[in-house]
Amino acid sequence: MTMSVRTLTPAPPTGAALHLTGVSLGHPTTAPVLDGLDLTVNAGEILTVVGPSGCGKSTLLRTLAGLLPPLRGAVQQDGAPVTGPHADRALVFQDDALLPWRTVRANVELPLAIRKTPRADRRRTATDWLERVGLADHAHKHPHQLSGGQRQRVQLARALAAAPRAVLMDEPFGALDAQTRAEMQDLLVTVLAGTGATVVFVTHDVDEALHLGDRVALIATGELIDVPHPRSRTADRSALRRHVLDLASQTRRDGTSAPVREAPGHRGQATR
Ligand SMILES: Nc1ncnc2c1ncn2[C@@H]1O[C@H](COP(=O)(O)OP(=O)(O)O)[C@@H](O)[C@H]1O
Ligand SMILES: [Mg+2]
Repeated sequence: MTMSVRTLTPAPPTGAALHLTGVSLGHPTTAPVLDGLDLTVNAGEILTVVGPSGCGKSTLLRTLAGLLPPLRGAVQQDGAPVTGPHADRALVFQDDALLPWRTVRANVELPLAIRKTPRADRRRTATDWLERVGLADHAHKHPHQLSGGQRQRVQLARALAAAPRAVLMDEPFGALDAQTRAEMQDLLVTVLAGTGATVVFVTHDVDEALHLGDRVALIATGELIDVPHPRSRTADRSALRRHVLDLASQTRRDGTSAPVREAPGHRGQATR
């Protein structure tokens, strides 16, 4: 008699939107970039992921997106396995991925067109989102006629117009000047309100991570930190900021790194 062996994936905790269990991730031909990763992103929260260049932030995001299969372990969205790219997960990158030959409006309508949303609904939704990001008057333009900040607004409108359950953002404001970047951070929080979307926002900027995140994941040390809100530019986050920067410099000194790992039932607690 033969016995079949099934690998059971632990059920994600209630309220989890994205869930990684025992995940090793990286590129097939190299050693894992992150190993033994357990991470829960709660529904509707903004989780920021911060860490130095090369620590694996983009690799993590690509794995969450379903663009890169994990080397080991399970990736789930709303309890279902992530097996490839899906409209439930929108992606926003630093380099704008707008189609240069399409107008702003046609770019925003694209994911809806792919979903075969009727034309009138597509137009209405695109108009609505272009208004929300402050680009109603630029709908007929082409991407090259816009500033970098405006192009990122179009990307944001395109990502949210398709009503994804999760938005995965890879240093989306990294190429913008400080003033535009601050404006985009505030716009992001404003336009997300009411969508219920879960956000994973990757950045190497500690201040951006603390301003935007409900929680901040430090890839290098494996810490998850709750950020007290309301979000305000005058809020004093100096103690948290010092804590995060200390951890980052410690990590650099001893040269070690650990996966992000959340102890069950201990939100925000350090794990090493
Ligand atoms: N396509 C690839 N093939 C092999 N290794 C890669 C590939 N892309 C990135 N890497 C390596 O994976 C590690 C993590 O990279 P990445 O996730 O891009 O870091 P980050 O986004 O934090 O800067 C780096 O050592 C990088 O060199
Ligand atoms: Mg990167």
